Amino acid sequence: MARHLITSALPYINGIKHLGNMVGSMLPADVYSRYLRQRGHDVLYICATDEHGTPAELAAKELGLPVDEFCAQAHDAQKAVYDGFALAFDYFGRSSSEQNVEITQHFARKLKENGFIEERAIRQVYSPTDGRFLPDRYVEGTCPHCGYDKARGDQCENCTRVLDPTDLIEPRSAISGSTDLEVRETKHLFLLQSKLQHEVEAWVAAHEHQWPQLASSIARKWLTEGLHDRAITRDLDWGVPVPADTWPELAAEGKVFYVWFDAPIEYIGATKEWSDQDPENRDWKSWWFDVDTDVRYTEFMAKDNVPFHTVMFPATELGVREPWKKVDVVKAFNWLTYYGGKFSTSQKRGVFTDQALEVLPADYWRYFLIANAPESDDSSFTWEHFTATVNKDLADTLGNFVNRVLSFSRKRFGDAVPAGAAAGEAEAKLGEEIARLLAEYEEHMEALQFRKAAAALRALWSAGNSYLEEKAPWLEIKTDQEAAALTLRTAMNLIHLYAVVSEPFIPTSSAAMRGAFALENDTATWVTPEQARYLTSIPAGTPFTVPPVLFAKLTDDDLDTYKERFGGEAA
Ligand code: 2FM
Ligand code: ZN
Repeated sequence: MARHLITSALPYINGIKHLGNMVGSMLPADVYSRYLRQRGHDVLYICATDEHGTPAELAAKELGLPVDEFCAQAHDAQKAVYDGFALAFDYFGRSSSEQNVEITQHFARKLKENGFIEERAIRQVYSPTDGRFLPDRYVEGTCPHCGYDKARGDQCENCTRVLDPTDLIEPRSAISGSTDLEVRETKHLFLLQSKLQHEVEAWVAAHEHQWPQLASSIARKWLTEGLHDRAITRDLDWGVPVPADTWPELAAEGKVFYVWFDAPIEYIGATKEWSDQDPENRDWKSWWFDVDTDVRYTEFMAKDNVPFHTVMFPATELGVREPWKKVDVVKAFNWLTYYGGKFSTSQKRGVFTDQALEVLPADYWRYFLIANAPESDDSSFTWEHFTATVNKDLADTLGNFVNRVLSFSRKRFGDAVPAGAAAGEAEAKLGEEIARLLAEYEEHMEALQFRKAAAALRALWSAGNSYLEEKAPWLEIKTDQEAAALTLRTAMNLIHLYAVVSEPFIPTSSAAMRGAFALENDTATWVTPEQARYLTSIPAGTPFTVPPVLFAKLTDDDLDTYKERFGGEAA
């Protein structure tokens, strides 16, 4: 048994996330956590809302709410959706928690002590109308290179050139539209990442062999471009305050840390939030401090987050000069697209996680998304693909098998598992096939290869169908009751096996399958390939019930309805 710390990238507080966010972070982390728990490991799965930064401030302003109230509501709204998706976090925290404030400030003090933070004066755009400094992306104007009139102060979306706000022609505030802007000098804290370049390089070199290529190639690219010193404070009202004991002047000016400084620290902060709820039994430090070889730490994220997790946060942790746990495995994902295009909130294209649950229960989504996770490349969501997959894999291959076997057995043999003949050649062949596929499934799960794991799971379900077709108990019953009973008993054992091993993907349906059998002592959390070979966990005489249809078959009308509601084409 090992200790596994698992985190998924913290979703920004503003807005319910779309399916692309879900598949690239929280969902695979949940599947992996569930699998490891079932295998008997000690697992801690932590996530939280990422609450600071300008977008949260602006979203609150739009709703006329104080930002803390907005965040509290938005946190609960997101949590409700994740509960709906059956994400089994050990804790879902908030980056605005006092625990995160405390640890973030501690990190900053240590970084200063160790010579990795210094104060520098910079010139920044100030808007008297808005009464604030404007972050680069909140200054808009005309691009000096291509003439695009909605270029942002950090980058022109049209020609992709990187800009400085002072480059813009006729700059205006993106918040109020005001053109009354001035440039003022202001002091900020800079994290001297350039000083940590070599250490981070050495650390990446020692760890990247455990990362998928996507993660290590992004890390390498950033290191090759060189680590630059970065401003880690902002002039905002909402954020972790710069500690007054260390920087009294900046604290008095109301400076807060930049959201990307405190967000990854919230992985630790949220663990402390969890621990503070039951301090007698939970020890956050035992997961994070001086535990380099005891805890295996796996992070899940989409590719845009990789630089922060493979380079910048490790740089921060290294600079603190304390033994904080650093990531072992960075599981990174490409993009899920919607009909080949971007999911777009403003253009109402794509599917948001709350809407997905209005359409169908979580298991449909969980299975489809993981089976098509953008692992080695981007993958495209289409309703055609979704409905076809649901119908084929979930409704026909798994659901129909379960229903067919249990209904038929009840009709012919009553409410208990029939005994029948002793297992023969077909059962031995089936057992071998199941053992082989299960070993494959385990191997892919351990390697965090989720698409391949889903394929192995699907193959396990298919093996049951092939066996059933081959034995054809509906024909056997006409000539040999004992033979038919053996086939059904074996198939019922498969159903129980499916319930156990499908749990990481489809926890609700798994519980329904498992609940069909009134086993005296159903404590099995896993079935090993060796045990699976004999398919004997459900003995003859076990009472059972037939659960309601597990997965509805989706019709052409359903497909039309979905496409009409969500739009069925890329822009
Ligand atoms: O990209 C995002 O959605 C960020 N909120 C991820 C933060 S991950 C972590 F570092 F907090
Ligand atoms: Zn341009």
